[in-house]
Amino acid sequence: MSGATWKALPWVVLLTLASACGDDEKAPTAVEYGKLLFHDARLSESQFNSFSCSTCHATTPTPQGGRMNSGYTLYNVVGRGSWWGGYETNLLDAVNFCYVSFMRGVQKLPADSPQSRALYEYLSSISPDTTSPALPYTVVKDVRDVPRGSAERGRAVYQAACQECHGETHTGKGRLTELASILPEVTRNYDETFPGIPHSLVIIEKVRHGQFFGVGGNMPAYSVEALSDEDLGALLAYLGL
Ligand code: HEC
Ligand code: HEC
Repeated sequence: MSGATWKALPWVVLLTLASACGDDEKAPTAVEYGKLLFHDARLSESQFNSFSCSTCHATTPTPQGGRMNSGYTLYNVVGRGSWWGGYETNLLDAVNFCYVSFMRGVQKLPADSPQSRALYEYLSSISPDTTSPALPYTVVKDVRDVPRGSAERGRAVYQAACQECHGETHTGKGRLTELASILPEVTRNYDETFPGIPHSLVIIEKVRHGQFFGVGGNMPAYSVEALSDEDLGALLAYLGL
């Protein structure tokens, strides 16, 4: 499906829906409605989903508060021209990959749906540059052990990259969903589940591949750009692995 089709739907459809959603005096604009959807896990109809787009993507030029997300900031995303390191050449396909893989969307958002229309308007509103460079996305194919770094740095990495979903280490306090395992305690039964494999390697596999390469689940994968081996090594030191 081409980007052009996605943009071609009349505004009136969207505005009708937007006004049906608003409870009050003034219906939200398309951009406002898209922004709401962006921050709302209920965009996905799955009761098992607790992620919104904003769980994994910043919308400012650089992520605020030192956050280290698996996904890039979507500031200027519309102007990039290709996405997912060039694997996607249609913006809606790039969005739908996340929607189906991570948010448990049952089927892709159709190009003519009010949701995709509004998301597009919102993403356009945070894309002042009409052409901006496409960003690299390097997947670590074969995972290897990484040198351990400073546990102090690892603590900061954990807080910036993992804590929002997994909560505090050892207790999971504050985690986004009970489906997110408690770290590092989850490794306790790894000798039975993954006999003969160092615990750290199972963690590296999960972080580098998320649910892909047959790993399963719905956690996102961290590319080299999202998380360096150095920071991963620091994280493992912090987790005592
Ligand atoms: C669980 C985490 C997660 C969620 C939730 C998520 N994404 Fe993503 N998204 C990623 C990752 C990881 C990538 C690959 C790295 C990248 O390209 O940003 C990605 C890539 C993208 C890209 C391509 C960016 C580029 O320049 O390559 C777009 C566009 C995008 N996501 C939009 C969305 C939208 C819109 C939503 C909500 C409907 C969403 N994502 C939900 C993790 C997520
Ligand atoms: C967007 C939310 C999110 C982020 C961010 C996230 N995780 Fe996860 N993680 C999950 C969820 C949900 C699960 C359980 C489902 C699954 O396995 O995909 C999980 C599972 C895991 C597992 C598998 C545990 C098991 O059952 O064996 C490991 C290991 C893990 N995460 C480590 C990490 C580390 C380390 C980070 C930070 C670099 C991180 N995660 C960041 C959501 C997240």
